[in-house]
Amino acid sequence: MKSNFFLTVVWLVAAVPVLLTGCSPSSSSPSTSQDSPTIKIGEFASLTGSEATFGQSSHQGTQLAVDAINAAGGVLGKPLELITEDDLSQAGQPAVAVRKLIASDSVVAVLGEVASSRSLEAAPICQEYKVPMISPASTNPRVTQVGDYIFRVCFIDPFQGTVMADFALNTLHLKSVAVLSDVRSDYSLGLARFFKERFVSAGGRIVADENYSGGDKDFSAQLTSIKAANPDGVFVPGYYTEVGLIALQSRQLGLSVPMFGGDGWESSSLVPIGGQALEGDYFSTHFSPDDSSPMVQSFVKAYTQRYGQIPDAMAALGYDSAFLLADAIKRAGGAEGSKLRDALAATTNFPGVTGSITMDSHRDASKPAVILTISGGHFKYVKTIAP
Ligand code: PHE
Repeated sequence: MKSNFFLTVVWLVAAVPVLLTGCSPSSSSPSTSQDSPTIKIGEFASLTGSEATFGQSSHQGTQLAVDAINAAGGVLGKPLELITEDDLSQAGQPAVAVRKLIASDSVVAVLGEVASSRSLEAAPICQEYKVPMISPASTNPRVTQVGDYIFRVCFIDPFQGTVMADFALNTLHLKSVAVLSDVRSDYSLGLARFFKERFVSAGGRIVADENYSGGDKDFSAQLTSIKAANPDGVFVPGYYTEVGLIALQSRQLGLSVPMFGGDGWESSSLVPIGGQALEGDYFSTHFSPDDSSPMVQSFVKAYTQRYGQIPDAMAALGYDSAFLLADAIKRAGGAEGSKLRDALAATTNFPGVTGSITMDSHRDASKPAVILTISGGHFKYVKTIAP
């Protein structure tokens, strides 16, 4: 439990001199050597740009965890030092950010990104330098397939696609669905594919399959084709900026069937963009702040007190990724790359605010999905679906 983790950290503070003298120099990277006063952790996130709320939330959750760990004495007697780079929500920037974190800052591990395409860009660099990377929230299966130093603390899209296909068929009773996906996003294309496979094999029909490019503002051509196909619902596996505009424009065109999607909808900016047009729509995600477990409620309280906002899924996953990394450094007895990799791979039943985390043989976490609906301009909990 996390309380045990804190106790252990407190105990380790008392044992610092013993642990430091027992440290073997060969197992130390520059930033964990005896003369380095901190353990440097890198983070790359979309703090600005089209998915700014993703990076801001994951960063805030990560920072809250790092500060809590440090307040309890740090890890192996040293404070964590979080070094954060903004990748501007832009392709090309994750590689720049991660090279800087590894080459100039000598970080022992990298946390990030939320968006799968940006994690896919950075992962080969972390793998090449054997610096463990933990994505808090990237759900495309290919992210961790890059190599054995790449991990994630969330579920993957074959599961998320199945959850939403079953929900559409069995709960919303939709027999025919249109799909509208973003060709520039690995996440969107993957989730669309996994959704369609399940929906069709379970007896549903895909009556329109349309595309857009992330950054587009006008979706009227695609929505006109979708309307002509007369679907019972529209699956939109995209990110919030486009999803909000798609909802608005579909209602303007008189397309009034339910829309639904995945975790990419979750943003405090979704409703300000899509407004009333999103009422009664659904999406799947990783976390609900309404979860009554004491661990979730104390996280929600600490986050809300500090930031004046209720945490979303990316905040919760960022928080879990930092706590898991700290726990793995502790279990590894240091932050040397291969030992830290092995400790991360051995993670079993780690208690996160997004659920229990066990790394499977693909370095993915199998965890429940949460379905939320938009009601009165707010996200409301509908149900939790176990893997
Ligand atoms: N799962 C999305 C991706 O892989 C990112 C995301 C996670 C967005 C959680 C919102 C919430 O790109």
